[in-house]
Amino acid sequence: MTPDITPLVAGNWKMNGERDQLDQLALLARGVDADLADKVDVVVCPPATLLYVATTLSEDTALEVGAQDCHNESKGAHTGDISAEMIKDCMAEYCIVGHSERRTDHGESDYHVAGKAQACWRAGLVAIICIGETEAEYDAGSAEQVLKRQIMQSVPEGATEDDTIIAYEPVWAIGTGKTPSPEDIEEIHAFIREELATKFGGHGERMRILYGGSVKPTNASEILAVNNVDGALVGGASLKAADLLAICESYRHV
Ligand code: PGA
Repeated sequence: MTPDITPLVAGNWKMNGERDQLDQLALLARGVDADLADKVDVVVCPPATLLYVATTLSEDTALEVGAQDCHNESKGAHTGDISAEMIKDCMAEYCIVGHSERRTDHGESDYHVAGKAQACWRAGLVAIICIGETEAEYDAGSAEQVLKRQIMQSVPEGATEDDTIIAYEPVWAIGTGKTPSPEDIEEIHAFIREELATKFGGHGERMRILYGGSVKPTNASEILAVNNVDGALVGGASLKAADLLAICESYRHV
């Protein structure tokens, strides 16, 4: 945690979830009561096909909704893509950009990611910008160098704590059940904080830095208590409302 920063837990459903998954979303919305919402911002990022119905279902609740990706342009001949403006039009408020699965599956570079983050700002969405080293980079001892480059190139100039959230996700921890130790997470988040503060001054000091990669109800309280961990980006465990709520519950009594 970081003093004076409201933490945020975001559930990333990835390419999971059809209409029958919406009852989990409704349960989640019901579970984020006023007391919990006072302690932590809770966001769910369903696939684009469910975005509008998700915002409709969570209207008048404390649950917020985000998308998983956007194109950098606002409209045009880009078959299959959706723009940040379209996401905003669905009444969502956040958008994940630069997830490692998109960097790998779709060859997205830091440059693309920065363009998408700017598109989010243009549309009035908060960009959740993902960074993180691969297993090979971790083994080679170059994690910090990779993160520094990603912060320099994927997080555009002018980012503030109001329009940008950083999600640190070591690629080797995503969906694997492996997580770095709390000490390692503390060290790397301190490094990210330093880099953000160097680049963005006070804004970098106040920007939320989420941890992502195999966060579950069983390890959440330990990870979320680490210095400079201002919440979590949760994949697999976000598909069940009870699991995502159990992760958020770590904040109820702090
Ligand atoms: P995981 O995914 O929680 O299933 O490891 C995290 C993510 O990719 O955002």
